[in-house]
Amino acid sequence: MSSVILDRQSKMSTTDLKARLKGLSLADGTFNTDQITEFIDLMQVYEGAMYEISTKLEILDGEFQVRFSHNPIHHMERRLKSVNSIIGKLERKGLPVAVNSIKDNLFDVAGIRVICNYRDDVYSVSNYLSAQSDIQVLRVKDYIKNPKQNGYRSLHVIYAVPVFLSSGAHYTPVEVQFRTIAMDYWASLEHALRYKTDLPDAKLSEHSQTLLDCARSLQNIEVQMQNIHRDINGAPQVEET
Ligand code: GTP
Ligand code: MG
Repeated sequence: MSSVILDRQSKMSTTDLKARLKGLSLADGTFNTDQITEFIDLMQVYEGAMYEISTKLEILDGEFQVRFSHNPIHHMERRLKSVNSIIGKLERKGLPVAVNSIKDNLFDVAGIRVICNYRDDVYSVSNYLSAQSDIQVLRVKDYIKNPKQNGYRSLHVIYAVPVFLSSGAHYTPVEVQFRTIAMDYWASLEHALRYKTDLPDAKLSEHSQTLLDCARSLQNIEVQMQNIHRDINGAPQVEET
C-alpha cells in the first residue's frame, strides 16, 4: 500500500497529557487523578478508532489501485483533538468538563481528512466505507451537494467503529472529512483568513467575496477535469453545475 498519511500531531505522550491536565485541574478543579486516568484511557480508544478507519481507507485505496490502476485517495491527514481544544469546545457549548461529557457530546475527538483526486472518488470511497458491516454511520453532512454560504465544500461523515480492548468492543466515533484537492486548497486559505483577526473589516469582506468566487471557479474546473478523467476511463460525463 502506498497512500500517504500525515499525522497532524506527534503520537500521544501520556507524560505530556498528565502534565497538561494537572495544570488544568489546578486552574479550575475539574480534573482529579481518577479523571486524568480515565481521560488518558479514553484518548487511547479514540486513537485506536482513528487507526481502524485510516487502515480501512488505505485498504480501499490499495484495492482501487489493483483493480482500476487508479488511487482515489491523494493523501490523508489525521489528528486527535488536543486537550485544550476539547476543554475549549466543552466550555463554549456550556457542557460539563468531564470525561463522560466528552463521550456523550464530542464526535470529532478523532478526525481524519481524506483528500481525493476527483469528486467521483470522494463518493466512491465514502460509499464503500459506509457500507462496511462492522462500522455504523452516525451522521452525514454533505457540503458538496449543499455548499455552505461561504463556499465551503466537503463531505463530513461521523462513523462509529468498534475498538477491541481487553474489556471488549468500544464503539467510538471518528469524524471523516472527504474532499477533493481543490476543496482542500480552498478550505486551507479560508481557514487562514478566518483566524487572521487583525485585518480591517473591509479587507476581510472583500477577501471573503473573492473566496466565494474562487469556490465557484474551482467547482467548474473540477467538473471539466473530472470529465477528462472519465473520458480516459470510458465513464459517462458529469453535467455542468
Ligand atoms: P462543530 O464541530 O462544533 O464546529 O460543529 P459541527 O460538527 O456541526 O460542524 P461541521 O460538521 O459543520 O464542521 C466541522 C469541521 O468542518 C470544522 O471543524 C472544520 O474542520 C470543517 N469546516 C466546517 N465549516 C468550515 C468552513 O466554513 N471553512 C473551513 N475552512 N472549514 C470548515
Ligand atoms: Mg465537528
